[in-house]
Amino acid sequence: MGFFQAIATFIIFSQLSANSNSFDLTKQEMTCNMYQGKWVYDDSFPLYNSSACPFIRKEFDCIKYGRPDHLYLKYRWQPSNCRLPRFDGESFLKRFNGKKIMFIGDSLSLNIWQSLICMLHAAVPNSNIIRQELNNNTISSVEFQDYDVSVLLFHSLYLVDVDEEKIGRVLNLNSMKNGNLWKNNDVLVFNTWLWWYRRGPKQQWDYIKVEGKIVKDMDRMTAFRTALTTWAKWVDSDVETDKTKVIFQGISPSHYHGSDWGEPGVNNCMKEMKPFNGTVYPVGLPEAAYAVKGVISGIKKPVHLLDITALSQLRKDAHPSFYNAFRGMDCTHWCVAGLTDTWNELLYLALLSF
Ligand SMILES: *[C@@H]1O[C@H](CO)[C@@H](O)[C@H](O)[C@H]1NC(C)=O
Ligand SMILES: *[C@@H]1O[C@H](CO)[C@@H](O)[C@H](O)[C@H]1NC(C)=O
Ligand SMILES: *[C@@H]1O[C@H](CO)[C@@H](O)[C@H](O)[C@H]1NC(C)=O
Repeated sequence: MGFFQAIATFIIFSQLSANSNSFDLTKQEMTCNMYQGKWVYDDSFPLYNSSACPFIRKEFDCIKYGRPDHLYLKYRWQPSNCRLPRFDGESFLKRFNGKKIMFIGDSLSLNIWQSLICMLHAAVPNSNIIRQELNNNTISSVEFQDYDVSVLLFHSLYLVDVDEEKIGRVLNLNSMKNGNLWKNNDVLVFNTWLWWYRRGPKQQWDYIKVEGKIVKDMDRMTAFRTALTTWAKWVDSDVETDKTKVIFQGISPSHYHGSDWGEPGVNNCMKEMKPFNGTVYPVGLPEAAYAVKGVISGIKKPVHLLDITALSQLRKDAHPSFYNAFRGMDCTHWCVAGLTDTWNELLYLALLSF
């Protein structure tokens, strides 16, 4: 455990003082572990008015779809040994002038991307903002023209390839062709996990290809770890990390099992209006979180793990539940505004740190 905690701890280098603005960090913020702490009530939250954000999809727009309790918007993440600076959207846009920031992954990438563009929009609501779908809808782009900053989303469920072949759709665990499209951006934020255990009609492939062999199925955790290793090797071989910063967005927890948080018999997040009271979530981290940490620890180049798993486990109150357009129970994604805003505050801090 000591090792994993050590790699999650921020170490922030001297470049910070070179381009100073209002988001400068104190020495204490440079060395503390931002991912360890607790949720505290703070009336100055949320960071923005979600009804004024033009980018939120119907899956995440909880207020619009009638969520009556608003307490979930009022929590601030308080790291144990330091302060998480309040997000300043205009400083962010100035600091990333001329840059392209790309989120790559499944709907949890969509979730954090929507939150970031709302946070930035709220800071400069009257500036020129252009929204586009590119590459046959695999890429969604929001460009803050006045600041020359693009925030992009690349839709990819597994990161590795799914190829249409004669026998059907083949999930190729050892190939990641889209890497060539990704590596020219300035910031890359990867995520994959949600789809690895899906079966039946939701499974997006018919066969798996691994080390040149085609198989009908295999242990899903092994498959996940193999794909992550393909990604890790690509980072080491193909990404120029002095130009492009690489982040992995940690496993996002869901809340369908009340026994995880000490309420056996509860099987969704519908009645949850407060975070878990405490700093240690009873059930512990999911196995996938250890897989991610293990693979990342083997990468030679600098890669930052946005380690949001534990702090999000405490937020059983922050999911849409059925306050979405389709009235389906969703304890997997997160309301926007909400928890994913904190992920972005931590992401911003991480980007300043390496
Ligand atoms: C939020 O934005 C909406 C739409 O622009 C506006 O009608 C509403 O008054 C705003 N709410 C607050 C609290 O500012
Ligand atoms: C664009 O996407 C659609 C639907 O996924 C697909 O049927 C079509 O072949 C794609 N077109 C190109 C040029 O890739
Ligand atoms: C949270 O836990 C603490 C310590 O166990 C307890 O004193 C407090 O009353 C709890 N708060 C709520 C809101 O349940």
